Amino acid sequence: MAIIIDGKAIAERLRNDLAKEVAELAQSNNIPGLAVILVGDDPASRSYVASKDRACQKVGIHSRQIHLPAATREDELLALIDELNRDSAIDGILVQLPLPKHIETAHIIEAIHPDKDVDGFHPYNLGRLASGAPCFQPCTPLGILRLLDETGIDLAGKNVTVVGRSNIVGKPVALMCLARHATVTICHSRTRDLAQQIGRADVVIAAVGRPQMLKGAWFKEGAVIIDVGINRVEGKLVGDVEFESAVQRASAITPVPGGVGPMTIAMLLANTVESRKRSIAARQ
Ligand code: GUN
Repeated sequence: MAIIIDGKAIAERLRNDLAKEVAELAQSNNIPGLAVILVGDDPASRSYVASKDRACQKVGIHSRQIHLPAATREDELLALIDELNRDSAIDGILVQLPLPKHIETAHIIEAIHPDKDVDGFHPYNLGRLASGAPCFQPCTPLGILRLLDETGIDLAGKNVTVVGRSNIVGKPVALMCLARHATVTICHSRTRDLAQQIGRADVVIAAVGRPQMLKGAWFKEGAVIIDVGINRVEGKLVGDVEFESAVQRASAITPVPGGVGPMTIAMLLANTVESRKRSIAARQ
């Protein structure tokens, strides 16, 4: 019987630990602050941003929510980021993606000061991640690694197959697994025989954004399956993995919802607290 990896419970434990840390920081007037910028009103983005705000409240992090109209110009957004870069009450700046088409995402990400880039999307942080230097690491990949650690899964020498090559999940999680000494394969839309690649994997990380695309029969007996997908199908959330059949083969698997999702936000909070601690250390 597969272990169902309870991301919700693990995230709650992490939040409780963070709340204690924030309370200690508050005693020296060092409450961490996170600015979250949403441009436009995409319903999914609105809901993610609201969850981030609630999570901040729960652990005592100061959260500044900034909602801008969809027609906001790139230079206006850059000016806001510049202001937040210089605001000592703000330790993390997150611009919710995707942005409206008239705004160049790379310009925005590169405008965020790398020391406040709690999403870990800035090329400075991604470059440091690739070279194995300390940096802010993207929240979903961090959450995935934390789930594996908490479940006692050691990646050294394992075949890890990542499905999806996004800058937010696929590429960084592949680098992080490599740093843990895994043999990493990255699959994507042009991969020839996906089922065969999946069948060789000890650990599969699915981040494609297509409902139930990975079929249970493809997985190796005893595989560890991490499902990053959050797809809405007929009002219900489903992952990228066909859970009912995959759970029969897996040794451990994350559910959707309640697997990777809650961890992403917990890691955002952890990065924000870390950012504050780094700025305190830099002042001393
Ligand atoms: N859109 C989807 N996931 C993310 C994320 O982790 N960070 C940001 N900023 N936008 C997102």
